[in-house]
Order: sequence, then C-alpha cells, then structure tokens
Amino acid sequence: MSDSTLDSVAIRRDGEPNANATRAALHRLVPRGHKTYTPTQLVVRKAAGCRLETVDGARLLDFSSGVLVANLGHVHPEFEARYAELVDGVPRNCYNALSPLEPEAAERLVASLDRPQLDRVMWADSGSAGIIKAIWSAQHARPEKRIIVATRAGFHGKKGLAGDITGETSPNPNVRFISFPNDEVDDVSMLPDAESRASELAAPYVAELAALKAEHGDDLLTLVTEPYLGAAGSFHPPKWYLRLLSDWCAENDVVFVLDEVQSCHGRTGEMYAYERYGIEPDIVVLGKGLGNGAPIAATVGRAELLDSLEYGEASDTYSGNPHGCAAVTAALDVYESQPIVDNCREMSRRMQEGLASLRDEFASVANVRGEGLVWGVEMAAVGDATADEVANAAVLACYHEGVHLLGPLARKVLRVSPPLVITGEELAEGIEGMRRALRAIG
Ligand SMILES: Cc1ncc(COP(=O)(O)O)c(C=O)c1O
Repeated sequence: MSDSTLDSVAIRRDGEPNANATRAALHRLVPRGHKTYTPTQLVVRKAAGCRLETVDGARLLDFSSGVLVANLGHVHPEFEARYAELVDGVPRNCYNALSPLEPEAAERLVASLDRPQLDRVMWADSGSAGIIKAIWSAQHARPEKRIIVATRAGFHGKKGLAGDITGETSPNPNVRFISFPNDEVDDVSMLPDAESRASELAAPYVAELAALKAEHGDDLLTLVTEPYLGAAGSFHPPKWYLRLLSDWCAENDVVFVLDEVQSCHGRTGEMYAYERYGIEPDIVVLGKGLGNGAPIAATVGRAELLDSLEYGEASDTYSGNPHGCAAVTAALDVYESQPIVDNCREMSRRMQEGLASLRDEFASVANVRGEGLVWGVEMAAVGDATADEVANAAVLACYHEGVHLLGPLARKVLRVSPPLVITGEELAEGIEGMRRALRAIG
C-alpha cells in the first residue's frame, strides 16, 4: 500500500528528482533521529497562505500548518510586513542587553490573555522549555512540595521535566498520572439533565483525584494538562473534565498549568482554549502559533509563581530574543486587525461536515474528532491492512492528490489542521482531495 520505504536508504520517488536529491543529502548528513518520520517526505521550496510548492513544482494544499505552527498561513503579507518593520536594524540577540521589543511583546501578550492572574511572561525557545519553566516556577514558589501530576498519554515535549510528564509512565519518582477521557464522551451539556449526567461521568475522575489527595496531601505541587490530547490521537474532553481539574487545583493549592503550546492563538476557535473550556489556569504555556513560525514560546502566569526564580535561574541563550518577540507582536497585530478566530469557527463547521461525509462514505474511516481547526480522522483496518497501514497509505494518497497532512498521530489517526486563514473554497478542495485519496486506497 505504500510507495516509500523507511530503512537504511533515503526515500526516493519517481518524477521527483529535486526532492530525491534533498532527501538523499539529508539522509547522508542529518541523523534521522532528529526528524519526525512522515510518509511523504515532502520537500517544500515555497509557501504562501495555505499553498505549498515542492522543489519539483508540484502544488499542495497545506492541511497541517507545519506542526500547527503557521496559524496565519505561510508568508502572511501583513505579518511579514509588520515583522520586517519591527526587526529593522535590531540585533539578532540581546542576551547581555535589553530590547524594547521584549516588554512590548510581553505587554501585548498579557493583554491578549485577558486574565488578571496571567500577568508575568517568561519566554522560552520551545514548547518543552516553556513547560519546564512552568514546573520550575511552581517548584521554586512551593519548595516544600514535590508531587507533579500530569494527565496520562499527554504530550508536553521530549526534554527534561517536559519528557518526564509525557506519556503514561515516568522515570521521575515525583510524577503521578491521572486519566484523561479518551473514549467517545458525548457532550451532555445540551441535555435537560446535563448536571447529573456530567457528575455521573465525572465520578471515576473525582475518585482518582481523591485518591491522590489521600496519598499525597499537602505534597501535591502542580497539575499539568492539555486542553485536548493531540499526539495521543486527537481526544477532546468534555468541558466538565477540565473544570473538574481546575477546581480541584484551586481547592487544594495545586498549581494548575495548562499546556496551550498547540492550542493557543485561535486553534480551538477561541484565542485561548481556557476561554472555550471556562477554566482558570495559574500558568499557561504557549508555543507553536505564538510566533507564527518563529521559534518562540512563553510561560505566562501568576507573579507569585514566576517571580520565585532568581536572575539567571530560567535564562538561556535564545529565549526572548528580539526577533522572536517581534514575531509575537506582529502575529498579535494580525489577530487584532483581521477576523482570524471568527474564520476558524466558521471553517470548523465546514470541516466537521466535510470530514463527517468522508466517515459516512468510507469504511476506512472509523471516526472523526476535533474542534476549531484541529481534527483527527481515525482510520480503520480494511481487508488485510491494519488501521496503521491504512493511515500511512492515506497520508501518501492525499499527497498524490495535492493535500499535505501530518504523518499519522498515534499511528492511525490523520491530523487535519490547516492554517486558520483557510477559505471555504480551499477547505472544500482539501476535503475533495482527501475523498479521491480514500477512494484510491480502496
Ligand atoms: C501540547 C504540546 N506541548 C508541548 C509540546 C512541545 O513543544 P516543542 O516541540 O516546541 O518543544 C508540543 C509539541 O508538539 C505540544 O503539542
């Protein structure tokens, strides 16, 4: 079912001489552990909006936004112009000096977050570094407490403490995991008996939290969760779940850290997912779309927590560099002047309809889950092919039909996450491309 191989030779594809040369050179020079495997190994030369052009001249629609990074699309004219204006003549780094771009970006970010408790900004150079700085802040502010709670099967990055709280087991003896709803949880909020249905569904999670409290009492330091589980296969929880965690943290003096590295800046149909879920984090961690492609992340939270770190305790070479800060400000300018989040909501409805039509048409599609413009299409086994094989084949078939997807999540879930600026016509074109691809793989 696949036209590529993943072994000791670089992937080659007929009719793609330039891409093959890049793939071979990369294979020779850059260890593959440095890359995340994608079945397509797409080689991009140019990008604009939601369009990608390969080095061999093929054009594809970007249904991935990089890895949910290019929320404003590629080379957004207003973003690029504002960014260029801000960085004109500015040094590349300000490690041992200050730049006015840094407080400007911080002020704009705090204003966009619009929560009184989120009033201190600590920059980071990746999402995982932002998560680590959030945990360090909690540890410094509450040195007498040890236990870090995380939701099972979450993804917070691979480095250090962020890696320790990723997945289902941890090498760190102070980490505990609690369950995250990952089967079909119907939204009960519209039912007449919504409250009692929600408390019935919540009961096992309440029991887990009570057991943690009974075991660790005042030793509970922080709880880190995501608005939805992305890497585990796109599982989007009912609202009562995140509220339960938020309330439990407030009642037990546990620092509530919300990992919005992926969800921030409009992805869920709200500027920040905590608005959508009606929760009040003590710290939020932002990344990916924050700089619309610039490598900058941020840990934003209560002064009482973030101010507990002394000079140098959370600094590093690149964090808060002027170019990253300029990207944050330029992106926020675009969000303020254009209806990016409104467009995401409108396109979300169309995406849901489009993906549901694929689920109804093809036995290879088992399920569709998502919100805003972050969707998962879970594939099913077909004939002799496992769901994982079907998913890989679907990614490749989409590529051949001009739709660029992320490699499967959790091996069998296609991630569909176009830039938030996508138009209705582009979205329909992408869905039709997926339809042809699914037809082709049978
Ligand atoms: C929810 C979430 N948290 C943290 C991270 C880690 O970010 P980074 O890869 O920038 O370290 C990611 C990356 O995919 C993520 O999706």
